[in-house]
Amino acid sequence: MKLESHRFIRYFEPEQAAQISQIAIVKKFNPQEIIFEEGDVSDSLFLVLEGKVEISKKIKKSNHYVVITSVDGNGYFGEIGIIDRKPRSARVVAIQETILAQIYYDDMGEILSNTRGDVVLNILSILSQRLRTVTSEYVEQLVYKEKMTLIGEMVNTIIHDFRSPFTGIQLSSSMLKELHPDEESQEWCDLIQIQVERMLIMAEEVLAFSQGNTQVYCQKINITNLLQNFAKLNQVYIQSRQVELIISVTEDLIIDADENKINRVLQNLLVNAVEAIEKSGGKIEIQAKRKDKWAEITISDNGPGIPQVIQEKFFEAFVTHGKQGGIGLGTAIVKSIIDSHRGQISFESHPSGTTFYLHFPLASID
Ligand SMILES: Nc1ncnc2c1ncn2[C@@H]1O[C@H](COP(=O)(O)OP(=O)(O)O)[C@@H](O)[C@H]1O
Ligand SMILES: [Mg+2]
Repeated sequence: MKLESHRFIRYFEPEQAAQISQIAIVKKFNPQEIIFEEGDVSDSLFLVLEGKVEISKKIKKSNHYVVITSVDGNGYFGEIGIIDRKPRSARVVAIQETILAQIYYDDMGEILSNTRGDVVLNILSILSQRLRTVTSEYVEQLVYKEKMTLIGEMVNTIIHDFRSPFTGIQLSSSMLKELHPDEESQEWCDLIQIQVERMLIMAEEVLAFSQGNTQVYCQKINITNLLQNFAKLNQVYIQSRQVELIISVTEDLIIDADENKINRVLQNLLVNAVEAIEKSGGKIEIQAKRKDKWAEITISDNGPGIPQVIQEKFFEAFVTHGKQGGIGLGTAIVKSIIDSHRGQISFESHPSGTTFYLHFPLASID
């Protein structure tokens, strides 16, 4: 973009705008090039004409940086020094090829002293508004990280403490299997063992999510088998909540996927659907069919729909509504699993029900 049309220049009246354009020094920065470091002398402000920079702050006593915000075309940074002249409080790095206009504070002094008072006041108010937004973005990120760390620590403790009672349950059900060789007892005991294992896997997955670990171990999976197993695992849960679960698959579809993780996706969506349906006559339908190059799984319920206020940020972590004890991680985990399978997820929601559409790339047949 042209320097004259930059937002910052346009805050000024034409005469001062022209003077600022004259004293600005246009420079090009390469990707990863540092524009200034935390602690450097503050002597100038920068207007971004092309490209993008990232502003980050070093975490105390470590070599890690947290990104506070990014600034791209028509944005500016380094302006706070005009007011306090304190050393730079963050580091700025170009993350793509970037063209900046650098304006030294000393050169601006005279122009500012010739600028009308109301214009200066207006500029000051714009600058402080920006400071507020950047600060609140930073605080939000910090809170998010803190919550994630806390959840990670909690789940870690749970996994650790639950291991021994889980082993106890597993052993007891093995004993019962030996004592009761009839088919029905064998089936129930198997179910106990599978469910206990699932609990551990679930906890481990929450832990992995809180640590940002999205590794998947893919195998060829037949969606018909997957959905049948899923229905079986949830038979008792569905009955206890007095809803109906209908599964229909029109043809065999094979995808490359991590079975535990896909089960996790379906489980989170199923639990949300069950929790949303308060009235009797609740019905949840899971269907699978081929759609172009995708295997499409849809999960529909006849609940009251996703509340409008959370629809925009639906897949973000800690977004929850109208639930006692809701944490708001379920759908964030779903989204991260779908992303790590290079799939897609979307939803349609009305006051008469909600449908989620999951798309997975079909496996190549070899
Ligand atoms: N099928 C659904 N029908 C209606 N509302 C839903 C449905 N699925 C999710 N929601 C809403 O989305 C919110 C976020 O879900 P989730 O991320 O699983 O977190 P949590 O279940 O812990 O609240 C829920 O609190 C609920 O208000
Ligand atoms: Mg949930």
